[in-house]
Amino acid sequence: MTRLHVISSGHRPTSAGRPLARWVADLAREHGTFEVTPVDLAQIALPFLDEPEFPSSGTYAHQHTRDWSALVDSADAFVFVLPMYNGGFTAPFKNAVDFLYREWQGKPVGIVSYSAGGTGGAPAAEMLLPVLTRVGLVPAARSVAVPGVLGLLGAEGFEAPEGLAAEVTGVLDDIAALVKEPATT
Ligand SMILES: Cc1cc2nc3c(=O)[nH]c(=O)nc-3n(C[C@H](O)[C@H](O)[C@H](O)COP(=O)(O)O)c2cc1C
Repeated sequence: MTRLHVISSGHRPTSAGRPLARWVADLAREHGTFEVTPVDLAQIALPFLDEPEFPSSGTYAHQHTRDWSALVDSADAFVFVLPMYNGGFTAPFKNAVDFLYREWQGKPVGIVSYSAGGTGGAPAAEMLLPVLTRVGLVPAARSVAVPGVLGLLGAEGFEAPEGLAAEVTGVLDDIAALVKEPATT
């Protein structure tokens, strides 16, 4: 089984990303090819990057970095559930990526972005792509954008509009294919 970490990257206590990420994680379990670990970045509670050595050295002075390193290391692939703030990705998420280097290398990643507005955070996902490839992650061909996320939160959690499950499953298919046949470039 591919070890897939579904990382919810919204830090606010009322982040819409948490119910959305739970729904994505359930879909990933139903996919049948993944051993799914949900990760809530707010609970990881990383400070701003405070390591004396560069992340690429793999030499970590702080326990919070060693813990984050072990968690990321234990994944074969990721789904990032990504909020959009002011047209871009969030600072805590970029910081969490910057903390590590080797641990991301060669691993497939799919993005499920979301926003209150009509773009569904697609601009944040676009902005993130060069960052992801810079640290050696391998983005899935497809990504998913969830517009109007605040209107999709019900008492029972995230209420997916018709067709969204198929879109997310497409991203999961891409990730599964990338794990099976890693890119050679
Ligand atoms: C600082 C901030 C900036 C935002 N900027 C945008 C934006 O540019 N476009 C948009 O559609 N929604 C924007 N929103 C709304 C968020 O996309 C929406 O509230 C989403 O739920 C935020 O993710 P979170 O709940 O995980 O914090 C913004 C929200 C915050 C808090």
